[in-house]
Parts: sequence; structure tokens; C-alpha cells
Amino acid sequence: MDFDLNEEQLAIKEAASDFAQTVLLPKVIERDIQCEFPKELVAQMAEMGFMGMMVPQEYGGGGMDTLSYVIALEEIAKVDASAAVIMSVNNSLVCWGLEKYGTKSQKEKYLKPLASGKCLGAFALSEPEAGSDATSQSTTAVEKEDHYLINGTKNWITNGYSADIYLVIAQTNKKKEHHGISVFIVERGWAGFEVGKKEDKMGIRASDTCSLMFTDMKVPKENRIGEEGFGFKFAMETLNGGRIGIAAQALGIAAGAMELSVKYAKERKTFGKPISEHQAIQFKLADMDTEIEAARLLCYKAALKKDKNESYVRLSAIAKLYSSKVAMKTTNEAVQIHGGYGYVREYHVERMMRDAKITEIYEGTSEIQKIVISRKLLS
Ligand code: CAA
Ligand code: FAD
Repeated sequence: MDFDLNEEQLAIKEAASDFAQTVLLPKVIERDIQCEFPKELVAQMAEMGFMGMMVPQEYGGGGMDTLSYVIALEEIAKVDASAAVIMSVNNSLVCWGLEKYGTKSQKEKYLKPLASGKCLGAFALSEPEAGSDATSQSTTAVEKEDHYLINGTKNWITNGYSADIYLVIAQTNKKKEHHGISVFIVERGWAGFEVGKKEDKMGIRASDTCSLMFTDMKVPKENRIGEEGFGFKFAMETLNGGRIGIAAQALGIAAGAMELSVKYAKERKTFGKPISEHQAIQFKLADMDTEIEAARLLCYKAALKKDKNESYVRLSAIAKLYSSKVAMKTTNEAVQIHGGYGYVREYHVERMMRDAKITEIYEGTSEIQKIVISRKLLS
């Protein structure tokens, strides 16, 4: 496997890094404090082609590979993990499945505006009683003449407050268990669709997370993706790719925290010399660098496997499990290196530590990644 980036990938890295440093960085602390969704900035990310990176150009996307997507996400997440998750959900949880399994007319109507960034997408699988145990869906979709009637509640939906288009997973036949679950494209504003209040979160506070309530909401049959009963497989396959995105987000948070720590360690003096000259600090930085490099290689390998159309279920779970652990450990150490200054907002690392935690929870907790990995190993 060739881990050297080609010219196009290097250009993407540079463009994403410039954007993060010049556009995202200036008000990132304020957006975190105020839980302010970065609407204008998402529009700018769309202009840069970051909202539908892997979608073919004929559908308004960038036609790029997964590795390019990972590279861009790392750079964005180094500065703003909220912007990274908004981007990741639109790219890998919404555009990917629509592109792979949508009909031509679904792609024309929904994928084009999503990939070009005219619309924002959300992916609604989790429910109040169905997170890790994703097969126990309570939301129902009952077939009527030319439509389905959807009833139920989805929880914790990223982009839920701001999205235009939602992929909603629901039970169409409870007796068939997970083979009776289907997936539908739903538009914001339809009768019977209510968006809940924004959750007040520990981290990724500038991304929005909310519940969605459906009461006898009519969805035309042509908005079902794939056959009836395909919804759970659709969700699992989507998450296999999504987990590469979250692994890249975690990698970016860790790499961002390390960069700040290196800079700070050279500037801050104690006992007459920069703290970077104390071996205890040097060793912390060496551990960070080692673990971040390993996480990056795992993210790249998972992405390359996906691009080669080889199975990436195990590697995407490994990349997410490991990168999220590295993000937690690195950000914790970054706060330690910053001492008291690390505990206040101005120095960014406290936000990064709060942001890192979610990467161990969403798109499958670390325990769920271990289930996925061990099942593959033992099968
Ligand atoms: N890829 C493809 N198919 C998969 C799969 C995978 N990774 N994992 C399971 N499946 C398939 C199985 O093959 C099986 O299909 P068949 O019956 O047709 O063979 C079916 O799904 C059921 O599988 P299991 O019997 O293994 O189901 P289970 O209930 O024991 O466990 C699970 C499945 C892996 C734990 C699954 O429920 C899971 O992944 N849970 C975590 C849910 C999750 O990640 N949610 C994320 C929500 S989105 C989000 O979080 C976004 C965000 O924050 C930004
Ligand atoms: P639970 O499933 O109740 O788990 C509780 C604890 O038990 C965890 O530690 C878990 O690992 C452990 N556990 C559960 N089962 C097992 C087991 N079999 N073995 C060992 N340990 C186990 N969902 C969406 O559908 N779309 C989104 O866009 C989305 N965005 C999110 C954004 C945020 C900020 C948050 C917090 C969540 C989001 N989620 C989203 C939901 C997320 O995917 C779930 O929170 C996650 O899958 C865990 O589910 P749960 O919260 O119900 O925890």
C-alpha cells in the first residue's frame, strides 16, 4: 500500500489547512461557547467542495477518493471538530448511501443539492431506546397506497436542527426483525415532522444535535431507498464508511492538540528553561507523535481499502477505536502540558479534550467497535 500522498491529495491538504486556519479558527471559541451552528462557514466549505467530496461530479460532488476525504477532515478537525462532524455526516452518512443505493431520480432530486452543499443532510438511526442496540427500532413506517406513514422519535441527530434532507430508518415489518427495517428520504417541513430542541452538549457544541418527532408523516413510496427490509443493512454499510470519517475527526483533534502543545512547550519557561527541555514533557510529546502517526496510518489504510473496493469493516472499526482513544489521551496530555492555561478556553486544548470524548461514543461506541472487530476476527 502506498501511503505517499499524490499532488492532488497534497493540494487538498493545503487547501483544507488554509481554510481551517484562516476561516474556522478566528471565532471557534465563540461558536463553542454560544453553541452557534456555523451556517455561513458550512456554505464556504461547500464552495470548496468539502460537502460531497466522494460523490461523482455528475451529481455535484468532487469525485474524489476516500483518502482525500480523510486528509481534508483531519485538517478541519485540527481546528474545529464541530465543523468536521457536520462535514462528515453530510459526506459519509448521507451522500454515500444515496449515491450507492439511490435511484437516478432520488440522486437528481436529493443527492445533487446535498453534494454541492445547497442542502444539508442528516442520518437518523438512533432512538431513545435504540443506540448501540440499533436493531430495536420503534419508529414505524406503515405502508398505505402510494406512501408510508411514519411514527416515532429519533434521538441525538447531528445536523438535525439545521438539515434540509434526512435519511430516516424505520420498521416496516416488526416480525422480520432487522430484515423488516427500511430507510426513507424525508424532507424538512413535511406535515407531521417536528424537530426537537438542541441538546446542550459537553463538546462539539457548534454542531447541532436534536431529536426528531414523526406523527403520521406521509412519505411517498418513491422515497424509500432500496427494497423494503434493506434499511438495517443500509445503515450498517453506511456506518462502516462513516467510522472512517469519525476516525479522521479524532485524528485531527489529536494532531491539532499536539501542534498546540509543541508550540506552547517551546514558549513556556519554568526553572529557567522552556518546558520542552524537561524530559517529562519531551516524552509526552514523543508518545503523542507516535500514537498520532499510528492512528493516521490506520485511517489511511481503512480509506485505501475502501477505495480499492476491498472489505473495510474491520479496519474502519479499528481506525475509529484507536484514533478516538488517541484523541482522548492526547488532548488530556495537551491540557497537562499547558498547565493552568490548558484549563481555560483561550488556549483551545480544553475544548479539544471535550470534543475528543464524543469520538468514543457516536457512530458506535468503543465497545461496539470491539464487537465488530472481534466478530470479524472470530468468524
Ligand atoms: N456491515 C455490514 N453489515 C453488518 C455490519 C457491518 N458492520 N454489522 C452487522 N451487519 C449485518 C449482519 O450481517 C446481519 O445481517 P444478516 O442478518 O442479513 O446476516 C445484521 O446486520 C445484524 O447483525 P448482527 O446480528 O451482528 O446484529 P446485532 O444486533 O448483534 O449487532 C451491531 C449489530 C454491530 C451492534 C449494530 O447494532 C451496531 O453497529 N450498533 C451501533 C450503532 C451505531 O453505530 N450507531 C451510530 C448512529 S449514527 C451516528 O452516531 C452519527 C454521528 O454521531 C455523527
Ligand atoms: P447505549 O447503547 O445505551 O450504551 C450505553 C453504554 O453501554 C455504552 O458504554 C455502550 O458502549 C455500552 N454497551 C451497550 N451495549 C453493549 C454491549 N453489547 N457490550 C458492551 N457494552 C455495551 N445517532 C444517529 O443515528 N445519528 C446521528 O447523527 C447521531 N449523532 C450523535 C451526536 C451526538 C453528539 C451523540 C451524543 C450521539 C449521536 N448519535 C447519533 C447517537 C449515537 O450513535 C449513540 O449515542 C451511540 O450509538 C450509543 O448509543 P446510546 O447512547 O443509546 O448508548
